[in-house]
Order: sequence, then C-alpha cells, then structure tokens
Amino acid sequence: MRAIDWDAGTIRILDQTLLPKEERVLTLTSTAELADAIRRLSIRGAPALGIAGGMGVAQAAFRSQAAGVPGVLRDVELAARELAATRPTAANLAWGIERVARLARERAGDTDRDKLLVLLEEEALRIAQEDANACIEMAHNAQRYIARKAVVLTHCNTGFLCTGGYGTALGAIRLAHEQGKEIAVLATETRPLMQGSRLTTWELARFGIPHALIADGAAAGLISRGEVKVVMVGADRIAANGDVVNKVGTFGLALAAKDAGIPFVVVAPTSTLDLTVPSGDKIPIEERAAVEVTSVLGTPVAPPGTYAVNPAFDVTPARLVTAIVTESGTATAPFGVALKKLSRGEPKAAVLKGPRPKSAPKRASKPDSKVRSAPKVRPKPAARPRKRPAASAKRAPAAAKRRSGRSK
Ligand code: MRU
Repeated sequence: MRAIDWDAGTIRILDQTLLPKEERVLTLTSTAELADAIRRLSIRGAPALGIAGGMGVAQAAFRSQAAGVPGVLRDVELAARELAATRPTAANLAWGIERVARLARERAGDTDRDKLLVLLEEEALRIAQEDANACIEMAHNAQRYIARKAVVLTHCNTGFLCTGGYGTALGAIRLAHEQGKEIAVLATETRPLMQGSRLTTWELARFGIPHALIADGAAAGLISRGEVKVVMVGADRIAANGDVVNKVGTFGLALAAKDAGIPFVVVAPTSTLDLTVPSGDKIPIEERAAVEVTSVLGTPVAPPGTYAVNPAFDVTPARLVTAIVTESGTATAPFGVALKKLSRGEPKAAVLKGPRPKSAPKRASKPDSKVRSAPKVRPKPAARPRKRPAASAKRAPAAAKRRSGRSK
C-alpha cells in the first residue's frame, strides 16, 4: 500500500482523513481536486506533499486541453500556483511543484507536446522514487540514536503515509524494530487532528511494533521521569541555521528532552531543507480553522462561539536539536555549515514568488488554511462575543487594572 500513486494523469491517494476507520482510495483527476485533498489533509506530511506537488504539475500537463506546448506550459504554471497556495509551511510542496514546473519551462522550447508530457511524468515519478530511496538511507543513518530496548517518543505521523516509502522518523523506528532492537514507541495523539492516534498507531500496529498512545500533555512528564530514551520527529521545513519547523507541539517536546538530557533527533530528507530561509522565525506557519480545535474529529468539545487559535506548526530552535538526520548524512551543531554540505541547493519557494498568470482560475473552494505572521492568541471576552479579538485583547490589561484597583 502506498500513500500516493500515479497512473497516466490520474493521482490516487489513500484518504488519510478516514483512517483508521476506513481505507478508501481517492481518485483525483484535476488540479482543483488535488488542491482540495491537500487542504483537507487527505494527503499530508512534508515528503508526500512534495510528491503530490510534482505529480499535480505533471497532471496539469496531461489534462491540458491545449493543442501546443505554449498552452500546456500555461496550464502548468496555473496549476503550480494553485497547488503552492494550498499549504505554506512544508518546504517539500513548493520544491516538488517547482522541480516539475522548471523542467517544463526548460524543455518547452526544444520538445514537442507528447514528449514534454513524458518528461514531466518521469520527473514526478523520479521525485517519488528518490523519496523512497531517501527514507531507507535516513532510517539507516538514524540507527545510531536508537539503542537496544530504547523507548522512542515520536510526534504526529512520519511513516509511509507521508512519504514515498518507509517514512522519516517512523521509518527509522521501523528499521530499529526490524533489526531486532526490541524497542517500544510512545506516540503522542497530536491534537488537533490526531495524526498520532489515528495514523501512527495504525502504522505501528501494522508492523507489529510495541507502542503506547499518550495524550500530548503527558509527554513532558514521561520524559522527565526517565521513561524515554530519545525523542525522534520529522520536519516540515528546516532553516539554514538548523531551526526546525514541525507539527505544533514539537517545540515543547524538544524543551522537555533538553531538560531531561536526552537526544532530540530530527529525521528529514534534504528536500525539507530550505537554506534560503536564515532562521525558523522567517518560515510561514500555517494557521488552520478554529473548528479543528473547538471540536475533535467533528464533535464539538467547546461552547459554541469559543474563540480558538490553531497554528499547525511550531519552531524548534536549533539549540534544542541534537541532530538532523538526512539521506546524505547527519548534521549536528553548528548546523549552518553542515546543512549547506548536505543540501542539494535547490530553491524552495520559487513558485510562491513567481508572477501571477493573467488568467488565474478561481479557487475551487474556500481554503481553510492561511498564513498570519502574528496569530491573535488572546481570547474573546465572553460578555462581548461580537467584538473583534484584536480590539478586545488591547482592552484586557486596562480591565484587569480596574479590577485590581477595586479589590484594594
Ligand atoms: O499537518 P501535517 O499532518 O501535514 O503535518 C505533518 C508533520 O508535521 C510531520 O511531522 C512532517 O511533515 C514530517 S513528515 C515525514
């Protein structure tokens, strides 16, 4: 079973929103369908998004109604823009899109329409194959951090569901199990969308790897009382200085690991490195719909109208990271030079910065994710539900002063 597959212009994905209840394959035949699947997290995880992006661009060429190469190229650019706008944080998405779109631009002048389609298809499949190969290499490179009988704590889902093959952090964990190291895994449930409880435990069970599911809030206490030997996670984007952006909650795990003196190890392919970004605070953090926090898998768990903030990722500073393990080798502090050596040096954000084609199509549906540089984290006062959160946040200190004045 694979997370994503290609068949002559049709993309098939295992719908991860339905797991573990149902294993349903979605057949995607247009850019709009793929963009929607990415936004809804039917396909997710940085490396899988890179593969989806590459396949999405190739698909746009395959499905293009244009008779000649210039028309196909125009459709490729439109698809590239639409797909790049779906999720802003994972480096791999823009990278996969740009890799196939760039090839289309480069070859448009010296190839005919049919040949161009074949070239783009081959490039998209190459991305998937390279990722599968990288998973194996990463898994081997990470073994030095997994001791015999170790308890490994992992976050979110980093297995075969979000890569072209074995997985990143979960791939390393799987290899350790297959090597007979008798490891056990603590998997965080990963609120709000439960990638840990729905997907990671599903993968661990399939491979017969001993594991326990824990609430996110239990992780720091278990680490601090010595129950965990190593924290091993994936990454969505790694900046030039070694700051790591990964699923929200990762930063807290790194702090707990540092406090307890255990290694905090990041396993990610070089396609996740983005050396064009100097540090983690410059990486756009996707903010998703509040309803994902005020409900659990569709069931409301907060009073109607509760204001919620939902950053999908956080930044773990490089000083908390023990090692970044890639398919090309392992980087340790100081990360700057080491990551440069490991990087393929390919641009990550070119698609996002490119000019907007004049005839950009309308979005198929309203995106539920957006980037905000400074999410407003102050709650709405219950007594004034219709006031804007930003304005009410400014008034909060004054109200607090008045209250403390009265009590004197
Ligand atoms: O929002 P998601 O589920 O796409 O987030 C995924 C993660 O944060 C993973 O840890 C990361 O992409 C690494 S996947 C190998």
